[in-house]
Amino acid sequence: MKFFVDTADVAAIAELNELGMVDGVTTNPSIIMKSGRDILEVTKEICSIVSGPVSAEVVATKAEDMIAEGRKLAEIAENIAVKVPLTWDGLKTCKVLSSEGRMVNVTLCFSANQALLAAKAGATFISPFIGRLDDINLDGMELISDIRQIYDNYDFQTQILAASIRTVNHVRECALVGADVMTAPPSVIKAMANHVLTDKGLEQFMADWAKTGQKIL
Ligand code: G3P
Repeated sequence: MKFFVDTADVAAIAELNELGMVDGVTTNPSIIMKSGRDILEVTKEICSIVSGPVSAEVVATKAEDMIAEGRKLAEIAENIAVKVPLTWDGLKTCKVLSSEGRMVNVTLCFSANQALLAAKAGATFISPFIGRLDDINLDGMELISDIRQIYDNYDFQTQILAASIRTVNHVRECALVGADVMTAPPSVIKAMANHVLTDKGLEQFMADWAKTGQKIL
């Protein structure tokens, strides 16, 4: 499973990238707002660090304007994936931009039928939002699983990019049901290294080592 980082925090991206944990980056208007930076400037900086797909989202709502914005965002770097919302105009934009050979990430997906439409429109990535479905007492992971089965049934090449990931358990379950990619905030990716038994075991080893009076260096 590929790891994308869901942030525009350049320092956090660079840190994870050095460890080989970054196969791509996703942003959205809220993430850009949180960064406090200019979208073109910060996206360009991210693309200079990460060679995998970097999603940058359009903000227009009419297809004609979305297409123009998408083309402008795609000029930032070769590895831009233009992100469009799963609306009818977004699907039209997806079809046009993917036909031009650009990567397109169709976002704000909350149903298997929406994912089917995105695949038909030539999306490179479909982004189902797990956490936001869980928030309203629906099963986000069931959606990932349904899309996996539908795409496999018909051999669609659109990659399932599990998004709105809030917990380490979301990551594990996405890997189990076969999401192609997961995108998570840096804090979730780092939290995957934590285990209470690792901490406890290390504490014991340190205590026993101190009793030996030895040094390695
Ligand atoms: O990748 C989509 C993500 O940014 C949305 O996450 O936690 O706001 O639902 P969240």
